[in-house]
Amino acid sequence: MSTKIVVGTQWGDEGKGKYIDRLAKDSDVVVRFSGGNNAGHTIVANGVKYALHLVPSGILHEGKKCVIGNGVVIDPAVLVKEMDMLLGKGIKTDNLLISDRAHLIMPYHRELDKLQESFRGNFSIGTTKRGIGPAYSDKTERSGIRVCDLIDGDSFAEKVKENLKVKNLIIERVYGGEPFNADEIIDEYRNYGDILKPFVIDANAFLFEALEENKNILFEGAQATFLDLDFGTYPYVTSSNPVAGGVCTGAGIGPRYIDEVYGVMKAYTTRVGAGPFPTEQDNEAGNTIRELGFEYGTTTGRPRRCGWLDTVMIRYAARINSLTALAINHIDTIGKAGKIKLCTSYVKDGKTIKSIPASLKELELCKPVYEEFEGWDNVSDIRKYDDLPANAKKYLSRIQELTGVKIKLIGVGSGREQTIEAV
Ligand code: GDP
Ligand code: IMO
Ligand code: MG
Repeated sequence: MSTKIVVGTQWGDEGKGKYIDRLAKDSDVVVRFSGGNNAGHTIVANGVKYALHLVPSGILHEGKKCVIGNGVVIDPAVLVKEMDMLLGKGIKTDNLLISDRAHLIMPYHRELDKLQESFRGNFSIGTTKRGIGPAYSDKTERSGIRVCDLIDGDSFAEKVKENLKVKNLIIERVYGGEPFNADEIIDEYRNYGDILKPFVIDANAFLFEALEENKNILFEGAQATFLDLDFGTYPYVTSSNPVAGGVCTGAGIGPRYIDEVYGVMKAYTTRVGAGPFPTEQDNEAGNTIRELGFEYGTTTGRPRRCGWLDTVMIRYAARINSLTALAINHIDTIGKAGKIKLCTSYVKDGKTIKSIPASLKELELCKPVYEEFEGWDNVSDIRKYDDLPANAKKYLSRIQELTGVKIKLIGVGSGREQTIEAV
C-alpha cells in the first residue's frame, strides 16, 4: 500500500495535473479532496490536450478509480459537461465515483459570487466566479445542499425552496439582482441527479476498503498552499483547505495513512487574481516569462501575473504540507528568460525575514533578496538528469538547498513524457 498527496506550493497552476497523470500510472485510486471547478488541470497526453476542472486527472488511465471526495464542491452542470467532453475524446468515465457527502454548487452560488465580487469594487479578490466561495459559505453555515440530497428528489426540492427564501432576498434587496425560480432549478437539477446517481457512493467507506486491500491511493490537490483559507494570503485566497491536511477532512483519511507528499512548483512564480506577490515582475521580465511559458489561465483564460521564484514561499509550503519531495516544472521556460533571479529571503526594516507574515501590510513591506543565475539552452528533449546543462543543475541544486526538500521530478515541457526523474 502507498498513499501519495500532490499539492501546489505557490498560487496554483504549478502543473499538478501533469504530475498526477504521471503518478496515476502506479496508483489504483485517484482522489480529489478540495476545491471545485475553479481548478484547471492541464494534461498533454499523446499530443492531445485535456483541461480538467472536476474529474480527477487519473481518468486518462484506464481502470483507475477516480473519486470526487466529500471536501469538493460540485457544480453538477460542469461535471456532466466534463464527462461528455471526455467521452467525446474517447475517454471512459465508468470509473468515476462521487461522494454522497460532497456539497453542490447551485445557480445562486454562481450569481452571488459575481455580485459579491462587483460589490467589493477595488477590494475584489479576482475569483473565478464559479460559485466556490458562496457554496463553501453555505456548507459552514449549515444550509448547503449535498449530493445525497440531489439523488433523493424530495429532500432536494425542499432544500432548494428553503434556501431560496433567503438567497432571493439577499440577491434582490442587497445586490439588486434578479431572483431565482425554485421549480426551474429543481427541474434542471433533477436531470443532473438522474445522470449522476449511478456514480454516487459512500466514498469514505470505499477509500477505507481500498486501504485495507493495500491499494495505492493518490490524492490530487487543487489550488495551492498560498490560496489556502488558513495559510494563504488571506483574504486573497480560495474558500477551502488545499494543503495536505485537507486530505484528512476532504476524503476522511487519518494522518497515519499518509506516506508521501509531493509539492509541485514552477521554476518561477505565477498568480491569477488579486493579492500580494513579493517577487512579481510587472515589467519586461514578467512579460517574457508569460510569453515563454504561455501563462494564461486554464479556467478563465486570464493572463497570469508572473515573477521570479520565491523560495521563502516554498520553504513555508514545505513546512505546512510536510513535503517529502518537490516536483518542479518549466525548467525549459525559465532557462530561456535571460538572467534569472531567485529569491532567497526577504528583508524588512533591515532584518532578514524567513517566513511569511500573516499581515498583508507586513508582507507588502518585505523586500525580496535575490541571487542571480545564468540561463541555459533548450532542454525540452532531455530525459536524464545528467544530460541537463550545468547552469540548470546549479539552479536546481540551489533550490533544493534553500528549501530543504529533495527535487524528485523535473518538468521540461507540457507533454506527459517531458519529465526527468532526479536520482
Ligand atoms: P495545474 O492547475 O497545477 O494542474 O496547472 P495548469 O494546468 O493550470 O497550468 C500548468 C501549465 O503549464 C499547463 O499549461 C501545462 O501544460 C504547462 N506545463 C506543465 N509543466 C510544464 C513544463 O515543465 N514546461 C512547460 N513549458 N509547460 C509545462
Ligand atoms: P488550480 O487547481 C490558480 C484563485 C482565483 C482567485 C482566488 C479565489 O488550477 O491550480 P475562487 O474562485 O476559488 O473563489 O477564487 O483563487 N484560484 C486559482 N488560481 N489556480 C487555481 O486552481 C485556482 N483556483 C482558484 O484566481 O484569485
Ligand atoms: Mg490550473
